[in-house]
Amino acid sequence: MGLLAIASAKGSPGVTTAAALFAALWPRPSLVVEADPSGGDIALRLPGPDGQPLDPQVGLLSLVAAGRRSLYPQLVQHHVQQVVGGQDVVCGVTSPEQAAGLNQWPQLGGLFAELPGVDTIADLGRIGATTPQNALLANASSLLMLVDTVPSNVVHLRERLRRVEESSGGPIGVPLHVAVVAAPKRTRAVREVHEALERAEIELAGAHHLAFDPTGARFFLGQVVGNPDRTALVRSARPVVEELAQRTSGYYVPAAAPEPDETTEQPVPEAASIPPPPTGPPGVPPPPGASQTWGAGS
Ligand SMILES: Nc1ncnc2c1ncn2[C@@H]1O[C@H](COP(=O)(O)OP(=O)(O)OP(=O)(O)O)[C@@H](O)[C@H]1O
Ligand SMILES: [Mg+2]
Repeated sequence: MGLLAIASAKGSPGVTTAAALFAALWPRPSLVVEADPSGGDIALRLPGPDGQPLDPQVGLLSLVAAGRRSLYPQLVQHHVQQVVGGQDVVCGVTSPEQAAGLNQWPQLGGLFAELPGVDTIADLGRIGATTPQNALLANASSLLMLVDTVPSNVVHLRERLRRVEESSGGPIGVPLHVAVVAAPKRTRAVREVHEALERAEIELAGAHHLAFDPTGARFFLGQVVGNPDRTALVRSARPVVEELAQRTSGYYVPAAAPEPDETTEQPVPEAASIPPPPTGPPGVPPPPGASQTWGAGS
C-alpha cells in the first residue's frame, strides 16, 4: 500500500517515538520500518509479545542480505518482528557501520510502498542532502519532518530542507509536512514554524502540532504499560494521523478551513498538492478486523 516517511533535521525531536505512535493510531494495518542509518532503537526499547527481547539480527540488514539479488514483498515477512502490543516492525541496523554496507535504499522505497495490505511508516532518522535513506522519499506519499520549538532547530530544519531540495534539483518531490513538538497549549508555535518556512519559500503541504508530553511518550518507549489514549500526545496525534493516513491511501479530502484564531493551525494544503482520489469513497478504512496477511510467523 503506501509509505509515510518521518524524519528530522537535527536534535532528537521524537521521530522514533512518533513512528511507533502513528503506527498505533494508524487506521489500517501498518509496518514500522527503522530506516535510520544511525541505528535503530525499537529493539532496544520494546520487547516482543512474550516479554523477551527482539532478535537484533532480524531486520533491515537481514532483509537486504536476503534480497541481495531481488527484493520482493514476500521476503519482508521473514524480517518482521512483533513488539509487545502486536505492532509489526522491521528493526533498524544496530550501528552506523552496518548501514555503510547497505546500498539498496532505492529498492527499499519501492518495496515498502508496495507491500500488499499494509502501509509502511518509515523512521528515516535525521536527513540531509547526502543521507542515503532519502532514496525512500521517491516512493513516499508524504514526508513528515519533526521539529521542536528551539529557534536554532527551526533554522536547522529550514537549512536542511533547502539542501535536500538543492540536491534533488527542485522541490523535494514528496508532499512535505511539518509537525512541531510543542507544549500542549503552544499550538501558536506551529504557525511560527510554518511562517518561517514559508519565508524561505519551502512549500508545505501541512503544518501540525504534536504535544510535547514526556508522560505520553513513555508509552511508546516501552517504559509504561497501559492505555495512552488520554495522554496529550495521543490526542494531539489523532488528527495528524488521520490526515496523513488519508493522504497515504490517496483518499485525502481537505477539511473546511478553520476560523482564524490564536490557537488553530494555519490553512490546510493547496488543492494542487492533493493527489487525485482513486475510485472509492473518501477516507473509508477497511472493514474492522481486516488484518495483514503476512506478519511475523505467518
Ligand atoms: N512528544 C514528545 N514529548 C516529550 N518527549 C518526547 C516526545 N517524543 C519523544 N520524546 C522523548 O525524546 C527522546 C528522544 O525520542 P526519540 O528517540 O523518539 O527521538 P528521535 O528523534 O528518534 O531521536 P534520534 O535522532 O536519536 O533517533 C526520548 O527519550 C523521548 O522520551
Ligand atoms: Mg530515532
